[in-house]
Amino acid sequence: MASGIELSKDMNLYESYGRFISSSYPPFLNKLGLNKVAVKAQGATITDSDGKTYIDCVGGYGLFNLGHNNPEIIESLTHQLKEQQLFTKPLISEIQVRMAELIAKIAPGDLECSFILNSGSEAIDCAIKLARLHRGGKTIITAQKSFHGHTFGALTASGIPSFKRAFQPLLPGFISVPFGDIEALERSISLETGAVLIEPIQHEAGIFLPPDGYLQKVRKLCDEHNLIMILDEIKTGFGKTGRMFACEHYNVVPDILVLGKSLGGGLIPTGAVVAKSHLWKRFGLSFAMSASSYAGNVLACRAGISAIRYIQRVNLPADCAEKGKMLLRSFRDYVAEYPDILRSADGLGLLIGIETQSPRIALELAVEMIRRGVILVPAFGSSSVLMVEPPLVISFKQIRAVVDSFAAACVKVNGT
Ligand SMILES: Cc1ncc(COP(=O)(O)O)c(C=O)c1O
Repeated sequence: MASGIELSKDMNLYESYGRFISSSYPPFLNKLGLNKVAVKAQGATITDSDGKTYIDCVGGYGLFNLGHNNPEIIESLTHQLKEQQLFTKPLISEIQVRMAELIAKIAPGDLECSFILNSGSEAIDCAIKLARLHRGGKTIITAQKSFHGHTFGALTASGIPSFKRAFQPLLPGFISVPFGDIEALERSISLETGAVLIEPIQHEAGIFLPPDGYLQKVRKLCDEHNLIMILDEIKTGFGKTGRMFACEHYNVVPDILVLGKSLGGGLIPTGAVVAKSHLWKRFGLSFAMSASSYAGNVLACRAGISAIRYIQRVNLPADCAEKGKMLLRSFRDYVAEYPDILRSADGLGLLIGIETQSPRIALELAVEMIRRGVILVPAFGSSSVLMVEPPLVISFKQIRAVVDSFAAACVKVNGT
């Protein structure tokens, strides 16, 4: 337990959490001064049991693009529950069909067929299976520093060694290359290669935007070598980068798009794998491919449809692009002003990383921000980077408050 941080009245719950759920998470929150229990969350704010309200700049790590407890999603889910039409298996349900139709409508290019699952990791595993179904045991090329989730397939594909170390041996048939290095990717392609799986923007070990032309060149290589291009937009999707999907910034359409997080409106666990129809034809050949008891359940589909309609109606992506520019500009000003503690700031839309000079400085800045009522934490894959990814519904006034708090936190940490 970090010294200097007052024990909260929620300590009993924290002790129970440590005993019955996870012993490693409470110390992480304690270090940040976040040893509190959330009692309310709305829009871009979280209120703790002492009545203190924070601006949330973690956004559930990409879950809450539509804000906490978005009233429209709650209303549609409540209505759905009252309909009492939840588990229709073995019959098909209309809402699942409507959800798939809507995904086909908003997905880029000719991505048309989808399977709704319960999480992003599960959807990644499903995408890997779809690639294997078409390319047999051929290799899947992935990127170093990537993150695709914690199930075995997704973890194998991930490029952060510290996440994987304890679980060896992972799956065979994967190789990884540096993200953004098109020559390295080209060199790694052989007759044994079947697919490429990457994120359009990396964010787990710091923010890494693709160099100019990179994604287009990956697309071209995949076409030339008959490889399946899989893009993981679990985090970057649904408006977060200022477009509905990040691949739209680069005019690239993958063969398989993987979705999750905000697809469930921040309320229902959901993931989806979306593919071109020629790839999907073989999906039905393997019923066991990714069948899962709750996959595509009525609540998940209701949440998904409502979430997509909300994003479109309020034009969340465009709004997010503007807010993101304003935040990034301010952070870059502070990087210039405080070079002893800050190294760089980068991002797109409301997916921003601030690289500090050390893990200690990142932690101190996070603690100062939390004291000032803004929740901000270091990236799991790189503890010197602070991730800033608030719900996209954050107001301009709240953004100004985040910037003011950051200015004050920099003054404090720079002077210590
Ligand atoms: C890019 C990316 N892929 C996959 C996942 C895994 O999704 P889930 O946590 O829903 O299993 C995440 C989660 O953070 C992610 O950011």
